[in-house]
Amino acid sequence: MSFYRPPRVPASQITPEHCFLSRRSFLAAAAGGALAAAGSAAFAAPLTASKSQYMVDETLTPEKDVTSYNNFYEFGTGKGDPVANATDFKATPWTVKVDGLVGKPKEFGLEELLALPLEERVYRMRCVEAWSMVIPWIGFPLAALLDKVEPLGDAKYVAFETVVRPEEMPGQSGFFQPLPWPYVEGLRLDEARHPLAILAVGVYGKTLPNQNGAPIRLVVPWKYGFKGIKSIVRITLTDKQPPSTWNLSASNEYGFYANVNPEVDHPRWSQASENRIGEGGFFGANRRPTLPFNGYAEEVAGLYSGMDLRANF
Ligand code: MTE
Repeated sequence: MSFYRPPRVPASQITPEHCFLSRRSFLAAAAGGALAAAGSAAFAAPLTASKSQYMVDETLTPEKDVTSYNNFYEFGTGKGDPVANATDFKATPWTVKVDGLVGKPKEFGLEELLALPLEERVYRMRCVEAWSMVIPWIGFPLAALLDKVEPLGDAKYVAFETVVRPEEMPGQSGFFQPLPWPYVEGLRLDEARHPLAILAVGVYGKTLPNQNGAPIRLVVPWKYGFKGIKSIVRITLTDKQPPSTWNLSASNEYGFYANVNPEVDHPRWSQASENRIGEGGFFGANRRPTLPFNGYAEEVAGLYSGMDLRANF
């Protein structure tokens, strides 16, 4: 088994020890079947290697907030519902089917995905509801998975699908169904292949807790958080723009692109500023200005050159 050895970086850029993953421990624990208890398992965090080059130099949102203030409607619509209601959710065993316009369709076992070179990425996360966090994810580039299935020339988009398990996900059973299931999302293929787009399998040095999308979820940091589909079971390459759940629910409020844009307000609230969770800025004080593409414009604006970003919100 080979282990990821990132390049050396200056000490000033080293991630605090508490949020760095010991990949060796992570894989050993995974192999030992500890994934089932991932939400509560703690792993050692030696600072022997560096992080990836994608590390936002901002204060991390406390782990307790990242893992308790969640949107995961399959478990309820309240921010605390996913923690309260996801205790019976089984994130192992797990497979992700990758199919559609690819040369080598395949169903990947979670173990195989965890064996890909994992990186820590500290990204801003900006929810369309105008709150934000800074989160130390662990994952691998989505492009690494796409390469394995060899997308065909006519593939233009990537569609994602969350698991449907009403028996384990109370939001999918009950009388009130907040969204149509499965939760679906999509990216253009060039967006999906961008180095910033990752599939996360961990956060804060540990495997993903159920409420954060165990065992594998999408993270696309320049887009609103709802694009970050959780608990993915299927990824399909296609030549047509795939549906996305929030766009299906309210197309005037949530576009397909959903790039963070302070100049395009949500019809019911401004997107010009945001509340960084933990900074107490919901009602004006301490609010931060929202950054175009959530601060990743330099890296991703080129994906949209020539596009009307107001029309394609
Ligand atoms: N994925 C699924 N399957 N179901 C959901 O309800 N909510 C989305 C996204 N992914 C959601 C989902 C929204 S609105 C946000 S803001 C992020 O997950 C929240 O991720 P977090 O709880 O890890 O902060």
